[in-house]
Amino acid sequence: MRRARIIGTGSYMPEKVMANSDFEKYLDTTDEWIVTRTGIRERRIAADGEFTSDLAVNAARKALDMAGLTPTDLDLIVVGTITGDYPWPATACIVQDKLGAGQCGAYDLSAACSGFLYALNNATALIEAGNINRALVIGAETLSRIVDYEDRNTCLLFGDGAGAVILEGQDGDQGVLSTHLHADGSYLELLYQPGFGTAVTPTEALVRDRGYFLKMQGNEVFKVAVKMLTEVAQEALAKNDMTIADVDLLIPHQANIRILEATAKRLKIDQDKVFVNVDKYGNTSAATIPVALDEANRSGRLKDNNIIVLNAFGGGFTWASACLRW
Ligand code: ACO
Repeated sequence: MRRARIIGTGSYMPEKVMANSDFEKYLDTTDEWIVTRTGIRERRIAADGEFTSDLAVNAARKALDMAGLTPTDLDLIVVGTITGDYPWPATACIVQDKLGAGQCGAYDLSAACSGFLYALNNATALIEAGNINRALVIGAETLSRIVDYEDRNTCLLFGDGAGAVILEGQDGDQGVLSTHLHADGSYLELLYQPGFGTAVTPTEALVRDRGYFLKMQGNEVFKVAVKMLTEVAQEALAKNDMTIADVDLLIPHQANIRILEATAKRLKIDQDKVFVNVDKYGNTSAATIPVALDEANRSGRLKDNNIIVLNAFGGGFTWASACLRW
């Protein structure tokens, strides 16, 4: 069968580190509270003038290098992001231009923290159908630009970064075995950016009242996230006639160590088979999974024919999973 196989991975994290101690200096919070409640110790923040497209391009170049390809070899660029350089045109078009990737198709997918898995699903389907042969799939975010740094409930959770994979159509058993997408739009107001878009009129009051920034009801998000992350991983296993014992590595969306631990417990998977780097980068939304996949790949943790499950949950609500044979 024609499958989409990952033949290159790359990631890029901005240089600037924001540690928990930086929040202690001006917010009513402590390193101890943040580590205990979230597992996060530090996150990366894009430099002035460094945009989502720049992070994406840096990650993409590394993935192309690993794949031994040049940008003009690509048939498609899909970027999962909710923090594109502009509302439009798509950040993928800007990435295409900065990479020098000719005139291949390029568009963004907006599915918040599930954005990379939505994009992976999309590119995989196009490859399996024979429409294209090589795709660059990216998750990239500069969440620091939409986070309210006066809101201690949200600001310490998020960071900036980008990860990328190159997918190529190959015959055989290795590659993306299945992908699974879900959404429930009735949860809109638990996690969203209410003050930006054509539904709102930009006014001085909106900016003054901090309406522009991301809003979240963390407790409510937490409960639904654990349930859906568990169920969507189980869906991927059932689809491939596998059990949790078949999984060599689970790479979940990195939101919060307690969400990761609660999901692992429900799935009955050993914690040492769960990839964790939330301590270093916080929640980078669509970027967490491709960044983690790249770190796992470059550290030699992914072996030929390993079964890898990816699962994500985010604003929308959206949730998704993928099962890969490496
Ligand atoms: N420092 C110190 N105290 C704080 C802070 C802070 N930064 N933030 C909140 N508190 C206080 C609260 O005011 C509250 O005080 P009170 O009891 O006096 O009212 C207390 O700590 C507990 O607050 P909770 O909101 O109940 O804390 P909780 O244990 O739920 O942790 C958190 C909050 C970390 C946001 C958690 O709910 C969470 O991680 N939710 C998931 C959200 C998430 O990850 N969203 C990302 C997008 S979706 C996704 O990626 C899965």
